[in-house]
Amino acid sequence: MLHSVIAGTGFYVPEHVVTNDDLSKLMETSNEWIVERTGISTRRYAHRTQETTTTMAVEASAVAIERAGLKPADIDFIIFATLSPDYYFPGCGVLLQRAMKMREIGALDVRNQCSGFIYALSVGDQFIRGGMYKNILVVGSEKHSFGLDFSTRGRNVSVIFGDGAGAVVLKASEKDEGILSTHLHSDGASAEILAMFNPGTHGNHWAKEPLADFNNAEWGDMYMSHAMIDKGQNFPTMDGPAVFKKAIEKFPEVVLEALNANNLKPTDLKLLIPHQANLRISQFIQHKLGLRDDQVFNNIQRYGNTTAASVPIALAEAWEQGLIQKGDLVCLAAFGSGFTWASALIRWGG
Ligand SMILES: CC(C)(COP(=O)(O)OP(=O)(O)OC[C@H]1O[C@@H](n2cnc3c(N)ncnc32)[C@H](O)[C@@H]1OP(=O)(O)O)[C@@H](O)C(=O)NCCC(=O)NCCS
Repeated sequence: MLHSVIAGTGFYVPEHVVTNDDLSKLMETSNEWIVERTGISTRRYAHRTQETTTTMAVEASAVAIERAGLKPADIDFIIFATLSPDYYFPGCGVLLQRAMKMREIGALDVRNQCSGFIYALSVGDQFIRGGMYKNILVVGSEKHSFGLDFSTRGRNVSVIFGDGAGAVVLKASEKDEGILSTHLHSDGASAEILAMFNPGTHGNHWAKEPLADFNNAEWGDMYMSHAMIDKGQNFPTMDGPAVFKKAIEKFPEVVLEALNANNLKPTDLKLLIPHQANLRISQFIQHKLGLRDDQVFNNIQRYGNTTAASVPIALAEAWEQGLIQKGDLVCLAAFGSGFTWASALIRWGG
């Protein structure tokens, strides 16, 4: 029976560090508010023209591929999770395939926001278990800094997010190790609670408050119009308290689901790597599951919330710090826009 082992991890964050005080110069906010509510002190922003979601993914992937003892030409399939793609289409997977001079392999883009990396990992795991591919590159990367509202209107969203990329190489193994199970969930009833509506084809269909007068608009103004931009409807919006409430319910639930499915307990975990949404959310999960400080990995203080990149960045950083060794039980868990949530339980191989 085939299993997927994480044979290599890598991450990349841009050099440019943005402090809470830097943001206070752009909008009405403060270091105290941001630290107290989110735990975030700094985040990184990509270079305006020299770095993109894909170029950061290339940096992270190069490290993961090398650590797996492979070359880009050995990769059989790419799965790329992001909500901030270089182009609206085509997706980042093909840009990464080109940039890394890979073979004409399949490239799949995944759009599950903060849960995107775990969804992508689950897809890769199924391809490996089914015997279709041997080496799969799974990437999460985001360049949020280009798409945030830096006026006071957008402060509840903009202070949270940062840029970066993380990657893993999944390798087929005949040993009883690697990804034990993945669990994926969604609840579309809350789709508009954390969302970016435009550009889109919604035509107000789902909206409580119309976003534009689509009945009288010119055809060329349907996707994105000046009026939408004037009203800031090209930026993400979030009902923060509603997200918080659901996150602290679903995170512990999906971790316990993973443990129960494998007849394991929270005390068996070497490390829980939660999506870095908010330090207060991670602390709540830790408390709810009765985990010690050393069983939960957090780096949101330095990088902010990097959405699809946050889990693979944290995984790679934890591995670099020697916190994950062969045989360790590691749980990845995420919750985010959709809502979607997911977990992956891993017996670290090697
Ligand atoms: C966004 C979040 C930090 C806001 O914290 P909160 O304690 O819920 O704060 P609220 O949204 O209730 O807002 C409280 C006040 O702070 C203000 N505020 C919002 N953002 C602010 C900022 N960056 N700086 C200063 N004040 C801010 C609000 O306007 C509000 O003011 P009011 O009381 O005068 O109306 C929090 O809700 C959260 O983290 N939610 C989850 C978000 C998340 O994880 N998103 C990613 C999902 S993966």
